[in-house]
Amino acid sequence: MNFYVLTLFPDMIMDGLRTSITGRAMEAGLIHIEAVNIRDFTKDKHKHVDDYPYGGGAGMLMQAEPVYLSYESIAERIGRKPRVIFLTPQGKTFNQDMAKEFALEEDLVFLCGHYEGIDERALESIVTDYVSIGDYVLTGGELPAMVVIDSVSRLVPGVLNNDESAQTESFSDGLLEYPQYTRPANYKGMEVPEVLLSGHHGNIEKWRHEKSLERTKKYRPDLYEKYMAENNNNS
Ligand code: ADE
Repeated sequence: MNFYVLTLFPDMIMDGLRTSITGRAMEAGLIHIEAVNIRDFTKDKHKHVDDYPYGGGAGMLMQAEPVYLSYESIAERIGRKPRVIFLTPQGKTFNQDMAKEFALEEDLVFLCGHYEGIDERALESIVTDYVSIGDYVLTGGELPAMVVIDSVSRLVPGVLNNDESAQTESFSDGLLEYPQYTRPANYKGMEVPEVLLSGHHGNIEKWRHEKSLERTKKYRPDLYEKYMAENNNNS
């Protein structure tokens, strides 16, 4: 799967994603991540990519042309017009279902804004999806792009060592994850729940499901209600 990030800060993207699991997946050729510097596409002799907003107001806006050309350079090179995700607090809040949907694409382009925003005409020309990572404002779209790329990458087959781990974690079935324990069985007087030492797989599964329900009800009542409604369960 190919991720292209249109940004004024390519090092931020590449430095962040070159490490850990996404870095390993890049090396293994399972994913390709490329940061494209929007500044390389300005025709301004001082390499400016921003200007004052028409009608006045605070701050500067990214101009349409370098944004559009940076996208065109990718579309032309790969011979397709991939989906373009613009990271913005005005977008639809990102969730696991969106990650699954994005993971079906062969190519994804991420557009990272800076300053007060981007000229609307660039957005109208290329953006297909407006995505927010939550109700707070960041200084730019780079961190949100990295968040989305990380969560989509781990759904690409082979990126996680164990195919199972993508399946059993929080949200894959709409519930939060159950608590987990490793050795020692007694840590500072705190015992691992007996059932996990029993070797009885049926009971372990049942216990885990109950704990998932318990946690979800306590910490994410919204998800709990949804799960109960969808699973026709009155417990
Ligand atoms: N850009 C700035 N804040 C953002 C947010 N919360 N989500 C996505 N993009 C952003």
